[in-house]
Amino acid sequence: LGQRLIHKSTVTSTQILAHQAAQEGAPHGTIVIADEQTKGRGRLNRSWHSHKGEGIWMSIVLRPTFEPYKSPQITLLAATVLAEVFKGYCDIKPQIKWPNDILTDGKKLAGILTELQAEQDQINYIILGMGINVNHPIETFPEEIRDKASSLKIESGESWELASLIREIIQTFEKRYEEFMEDGFSKVKLRWEAFGYRIGEIVPIQTYQSSWNGRIMGIESDGALRVVDEEGKEQTLYSAEIQWGK
Ligand code: BTN
Repeated sequence: LGQRLIHKSTVTSTQILAHQAAQEGAPHGTIVIADEQTKGRGRLNRSWHSHKGEGIWMSIVLRPTFEPYKSPQITLLAATVLAEVFKGYCDIKPQIKWPNDILTDGKKLAGILTELQAEQDQINYIILGMGINVNHPIETFPEEIRDKASSLKIESGESWELASLIREIIQTFEKRYEEFMEDGFSKVKLRWEAFGYRIGEIVPIQTYQSSWNGRIMGIESDGALRVVDEEGKEQTLYSAEIQWGK
């Protein structure tokens, strides 16, 4: 991983650059990093605030040999890698909000955006985007997200050297990715659940059919969310709007 590294100062989005690189044949493990993004993308068509020098904005080209249905598991894997590094390297207590927001104390430190390019049941490539709030003082977040966002600096009281942190993340990702390719999802699942946000608690859940309260139990062996409903029946959620509250 990272044999080929594309580092730019300002880009629209590292996702866009990584897609271009992949379409031009960039090998597995190519990494695109930018100091600043003018149009950082979040999940669900949201934008992602990506100021210069304050965070890690990075996209990795992956060319896995597994089938497309497994690609959400890569997102969960990436979330556990970030949680592992934040805990081990930055000494803070991360939580993962299903599927893949990294929080601490209920505030978001990092987000992950996975984009899949597949044809006829075969993955062409995956772009794994990670956005990490590292050295942001609280004032640099837009007013409307200040009570929901945080940075490693705010939480740890220290500034972090971006290059060392990037190295740590890439090395940990490489190790966990290999483990996943060899042994499958079981270890990722355990690690994910150890960091899982609000496991055991009851939260309001909305699926496309109905709204109800459910107790969060953990994840399935394929990464779906396990919830017990009001009748005590176990449900498996692949997508849902969950009011996580605080
Ligand atoms: C989310 O939580 O909504 C996901 C945010 C993902 C942001 C990262 S920053 C690097 C990469 N480039 C982008 O434009 N988005 C991802």
